[in-house]
Amino acid sequence: MSAPRVRKAVIPAAGLGTRFLPATKAVPKEMLPIVDVPTIQLVVEEALDAGIEEVILVTGRGKASIEDHFDHAYELEDTLLRRSKRELLEQVAAISRRVRLISVRQKEPLGLGHAVLVARQVAGGEAVAVLLGDDLIDTDGLPRTGIGQLVDEYQRQGGAAGVIALLEVAPGQEHLYGVVAGEVVAGSDEGRLLRLCDLVEKPAPGTAPSRLAIIGRYVLPPSIWPILESTAPGKGGEIQLTDALKTLALGDGCFGLRFRGVRHDAGDRLGYLGANLAYALKRPDLRPGLLALMRDLVREHDPRGQGSA
Ligand code: G1P
Repeated sequence: MSAPRVRKAVIPAAGLGTRFLPATKAVPKEMLPIVDVPTIQLVVEEALDAGIEEVILVTGRGKASIEDHFDHAYELEDTLLRRSKRELLEQVAAISRRVRLISVRQKEPLGLGHAVLVARQVAGGEAVAVLLGDDLIDTDGLPRTGIGQLVDEYQRQGGAAGVIALLEVAPGQEHLYGVVAGEVVAGSDEGRLLRLCDLVEKPAPGTAPSRLAIIGRYVLPPSIWPILESTAPGKGGEIQLTDALKTLALGDGCFGLRFRGVRHDAGDRLGYLGANLAYALKRPDLRPGLLALMRDLVREHDPRGQGSA
């Protein structure tokens, strides 16, 4: 029997975005742009390109502009039409045509596991993809998006086990992530698939079971719902998705996939700047000017190329 399709994606977006204050005082961090596209639009497009039909946005106070962004903007679209700005009109209208978005509120900041659990009813107890907006996965030139690769593996495994995205991080970075232990699945593509036996949320320095970190992409089977329901608060007093995944790993199973693609940590200021540069360099209209600008800046600030301050 083939696994049921993964039709719904949960995107937690209730965080306060304190790392980007003061920019995020009145603007949700999910709306901060990568060049000229809000970060969350890139994440929603990744989900849609993987065949997701419905996006469940988990929001909090002050996040209404995200909903507006994915809605039709009649006055704007009409004005662009009258000014014959067809290309811009198409860009603005396309995403609202493509996405069916439902938002639910996380009324208290009780953790990522809790944020996902808030979507349970709307998800109707189905399997869901989960995408965290702080992580961007660039899969230009590859056949499947980041979450698409996880959905494929989820279906290959039959639909009972979960599949999560993994990336080997630099030594000393493990405490910033959920970190896993597992065994490489024999015969998997370049040994990229692991069957997980342990998952630890943000291990104390020196205690991580490996350097394989969880990156914000998950495909969760229906059995995750009752598990989340009974997961006790963990690290930081919050209900951690990582803890629920450990329970899943010891039951129906959980796989980790070292996905293909380039990940940007857009939740970190330097990572965000890097993502902007990387995405701008892909744009033929911006690339030559940006390269010239970067050369000038490096010449001015770091003439001997030593990365000096
Ligand atoms: C969350 C998860 C963590 C994961 C990370 C990926 O942490 O709890 O397991 O490694 O996302 O970005 P956060 O960065 O939201 O604190």
